[in-house]
Amino acid sequence: MPNAYIAGTGFYVPPNVVTNHDLSKYMNTSDEWIRERTGIQERRFVEKGKGPSDLAIPATEQALESAGLTVEDIDFMIFATSTPDYYIPGSGCLLQDKMGFNEIGALDIRVQCSGFVYGLSIAEQYIKTRTFENILLIGAEAQTTAMELNDNGRDVSVIFGDGAGAVIISGTEKNKGILSTHMHSEGKYLKELWMEAPASNAGMPRILPEDLEEGKQYLKMNGREVFRHAIVRFVEVIHECLEKNNLKVEDIDLLIPHQANLRITQMVQKKLGLNNDQVYSNIHKYGNTTAASIPIALAEAVNEGKISKGDKVVFASFGSGFAWASAIMEW
Ligand SMILES: CC(C)(COP(=O)(O)OP(=O)(O)OC[C@H]1O[C@@H](n2cnc3c(N)ncnc32)[C@H](O)[C@@H]1OP(=O)(O)O)[C@@H](O)C(=O)NCCC(=O)NCCS
Repeated sequence: MPNAYIAGTGFYVPPNVVTNHDLSKYMNTSDEWIRERTGIQERRFVEKGKGPSDLAIPATEQALESAGLTVEDIDFMIFATSTPDYYIPGSGCLLQDKMGFNEIGALDIRVQCSGFVYGLSIAEQYIKTRTFENILLIGAEAQTTAMELNDNGRDVSVIFGDGAGAVIISGTEKNKGILSTHMHSEGKYLKELWMEAPASNAGMPRILPEDLEEGKQYLKMNGREVFRHAIVRFVEVIHECLEKNNLKVEDIDLLIPHQANLRITQMVQKKLGLNNDQVYSNIHKYGNTTAASIPIALAEAVNEGKISKGDKVVFASFGSGFAWASAIMEW
């Protein structure tokens, strides 16, 4: 069986930079409050008329180039997004058309902040069974269009940003690549981080003027509960992947966690006893980009020369669902 490895990486963020100071024009907040609580300094807002499939194009072009491949070489696509361009059809189908891929399968997956790691797991199975040779995996989000830019939504709207990351996953007979992946969910906490409308269980139509007035179309979060669960689940799922591979915390060369919040990352780092060089963070520049955060961080870490051949790289995520996951690979 071949091993599945990451053959190329790329990322893209939209040009519109929104600083903490910019947000303080819409709501009662401050640069100091946001930096101290989240580590975020600025994030990107997608422009009107663009969606995740548009953000995914430059990210995919870079990933293809770094893998030395073209659209013709890709035989399957997995598009992780919790903010698809449309409810119907999925963003993968849009990207297939926009980039002129062959008539390949285009699988949209949700799983919110854990979408990328779940996607890695799916891709790994197809590579190992030789079903496909080169898979494009994307995490892309236009999350800021669900932000309530006023005092009601200030806890959520200072955290999220837009962007896209892409990787190419290919097969190799060499002793490298994904060692294992681990996925979990606990749906009883769905309302701790969710968007209520539009919803297909709301009847016809899926959203009413009174829903809009109540603000059901905005992402809602119970920050304290999310924080409490996140620090436990991140640590657990990282230990799970280490134990599965008979590895120890000190064997991790780089942990790329979902960029949820700097304070969560710092707490996880402390609980695991990792040093600063072992943990990657770029949340200060982009905020929390949901399914895009890990592939964006990975692409930046690669560009900065932070990952070398043979390194053990761990990805870990936690988010709405709740859903959490980890993956470990040898680079
Ligand atoms: C959201 C979060 C930063 C809030 O920090 P906190 O220390 O828990 O703050 P609290 O919720 O206790 O709120 C403290 C006060 O700040 C206020 N506040 C909330 N958002 C604010 C903002 N953007 N600016 C200024 N004040 C804000 C609250 O209204 C509250 O005011 P009150 O005391 O008058 O009621 C924190 O809970 C968190 O990081 N949670 C995890 C979020 C996350 O990572 N989500 C993504 C998961 S994928």
